[in-house]
Amino acid sequence: MFAREYPRKEVVLRKLTYFIACSIDGFIGDPDGDASAMFPFVDEEFLDFLKAEHPETIPTQGRRALGIDDLPNKRFDTIVQGRASYDLALKEGVTSPYAHLREYVASRTLKESPDPNVEIIAEDLVGRVRALKAEDSAFDVYLCGGARLAGELVDEIDELIIKTYPIVLGTGMPMFTSAFSVTQFALESVRGFGNGAVVRTYSRRR
Ligand SMILES: NC(=O)c1ccc[n+]([C@@H]2O[C@H](COP(=O)([O-])OP(=O)(O)OC[C@H]3O[C@@H](n4cnc5c(N)ncnc54)[C@H](OP(=O)(O)O)[C@@H]3O)[C@@H](O)[C@H]2O)c1
Repeated sequence: MFAREYPRKEVVLRKLTYFIACSIDGFIGDPDGDASAMFPFVDEEFLDFLKAEHPETIPTQGRRALGIDDLPNKRFDTIVQGRASYDLALKEGVTSPYAHLREYVASRTLKESPDPNVEIIAEDLVGRVRALKAEDSAFDVYLCGGARLAGELVDEIDELIIKTYPIVLGTGMPMFTSAFSVTQFALESVRGFGNGAVVRTYSRRR
């Protein structure tokens, strides 16, 4: 008698998505990372797109100012940030910049989290991110940046959503600070905006 075969349930990991704003020449900010040259391109049309498709990528304070605090998350329920990116919020006195998400900040120097909604990842970054991806959830994980964190996690990234604004910076902070290595992605979609911004979505070829 043969043992009965049950269909194996495929485990689908949720995606780690690097959702990032950059210049035409691929910089996410000036040499110090300051991305304010890109802010003017977040005009009414672009904001409508963010509100409709990625409302959770707008920081809590911005959502409040826009009166969209209650918009439900569409793609992500978790955010992972590097400490330097998180510092920008701390400098403004904001300890939970994405209060509508579960917040993780990678840091070996921040010994204690300044906010109950923020968990510090001090060790085994890749292992912790893999564990987040393995969680049972309909939502994906938003990798916010910056360059150093994305560089450390490049092998874990499943999707890129790149908001390219029509400016050239010449030099600046790259999308990744990592060693040279070729990683292939497949283009999934391209969307253009009246002001010249383009949003491209790529999925990783595994
Ligand atoms: N254009 C955009 O859409 C966008 C988005 C996000 C950020 N940014 C810009 O990016 C800039 C910051 O980028 P950045 O590359 O300088 O820094 P970052 O990636 O935000 O943070 C780097 C820090 O993360 C921690 N970290 C990195 N790897 C780690 C590991 N394996 N384990 C534990 N902690 C780890 C370390 O913190 P400790 O030093 O505390 O150990 C490290 O100093 C900001 O100026 C921001 O404006 C731009």
